[in-house]
Amino acid sequence: MNNFTYHVYTDVRFGKGQLKALPEVVLPHGKKVLMVYGGGSIKKNGIYQEIHELLKDCEIHELSGIEPNPKITSVRVGVELCKTHGIEVVLAVGGGSVIDASKVIAGGACYDGDPWDLVVDSKKIGKVLPIVAVLTLAATGSEMNKNAVISNMETNEKLGTASHNFKPVAAICDPTYLFTLPAYQTAAGTADIMSHVFEQYFQKTETAYLTDCIAESILKTCIKYCPVALKEPDNYEARANLMWASTQALNGLTSAGKGGGWTCHPVEHELSAFYDITHGVGLAIVTPRWMRYILNEDTAPKFAAYARNVWGIQETDTMKCAAMGIDATEEFFKNCGIPMTLREVGIDDSKLSVMAADAVKFGGLSNAYVPLDEKDVEEILRMSL
Ligand code: NZQ
Ligand code: ZN
Repeated sequence: MNNFTYHVYTDVRFGKGQLKALPEVVLPHGKKVLMVYGGGSIKKNGIYQEIHELLKDCEIHELSGIEPNPKITSVRVGVELCKTHGIEVVLAVGGGSVIDASKVIAGGACYDGDPWDLVVDSKKIGKVLPIVAVLTLAATGSEMNKNAVISNMETNEKLGTASHNFKPVAAICDPTYLFTLPAYQTAAGTADIMSHVFEQYFQKTETAYLTDCIAESILKTCIKYCPVALKEPDNYEARANLMWASTQALNGLTSAGKGGGWTCHPVEHELSAFYDITHGVGLAIVTPRWMRYILNEDTAPKFAAYARNVWGIQETDTMKCAAMGIDATEEFFKNCGIPMTLREVGIDDSKLSVMAADAVKFGGLSNAYVPLDEKDVEEILRMSL
């Protein structure tokens, strides 16, 4: 087991009605608030109105229209608002896109220069305004982690950046907010949670037993509850377990004692950068193909352990068992209603080699569980067509 730092920083308020804690977690940081949100779902389900009521003593400025796969152009507008109005707290109300944009806005507000610099070079991130997140989508874990992913459509770049200062000071996680999620986002979010776990579970470190058991439990939680949430969107038990799974899947817990590069995320970020597709859908498409591509005598025992511990597959032949676990993964995503080919989401073979080259360039794939080069990634993308 490798050495690690596990810095629990975010004050998480989890459960029905927890929004009432908003003044308690916002006011210690100031009254000048920039409220950041997306295309309007929070107005339809009433969260927007409730926040205004709870923060009626604050001076609230707003930035709406944060896009899925948030764009640097929106971040720049947010930074300007912070600087113009002397904003003290950034309040992110939404899913990963809104929270990620809010992180770079909060960093950009304290930085002299273009906020894109903070995306390209995380070393430039210094002071960051306090961020409070109100989560409305279970997927990214952004509510409790240090990452932000921002797109620049002019350059076809979607890049991740990170800083401990990006961690929200507080996160309100009310599972009832997930009741209004469309099935597509519920399924894509679950695929994202599972992919975060896969990226950290399938790493070279073999000795982080507890961490791997936690990872398997998160995967089992997704497999149990996503179908329930799809069938009964207002099933609290299902939504609550998925929401907690998303937070735990990418806050450092499932990487404790492990190490190494990721694979499907860097590849998917290229699909989003060129075609602006839904992150979790891109991951679901690529994941089983990546698993099949890297299955060999060396990796089979780990895939077989995944098949046995997560899917309950009894097969005694290691290679067969591993393959059955991969098939089960693909079948699960399909049954959740996720389109499982690139062509279904509007991607043909014209840019596969460019995307493969960029994934290797930006993604650290030489340090992955099974190191991959451009040709490997192109082949995985071709298998995904
Ligand atoms: O914009 P609105 O109207 O709010 O609608 C959103 C959006 O269209 C909708 N939605 C959110 N909550 C809802 C809702 N609709 C109804 N009811 C609700 N309660 O869902 C749509 C998608 O939202 P988005 O925030 O884009 O989804 P997600 O949370 O999956 O975030 C995806 C982004 O996060 C990045 C992804 O690359 C992508 O850009 N990631 C961030 C990570 C991180 N910070 O650690 C890690 C991830 O691997 C990922 O890369
Ligand atoms: Zn992800």
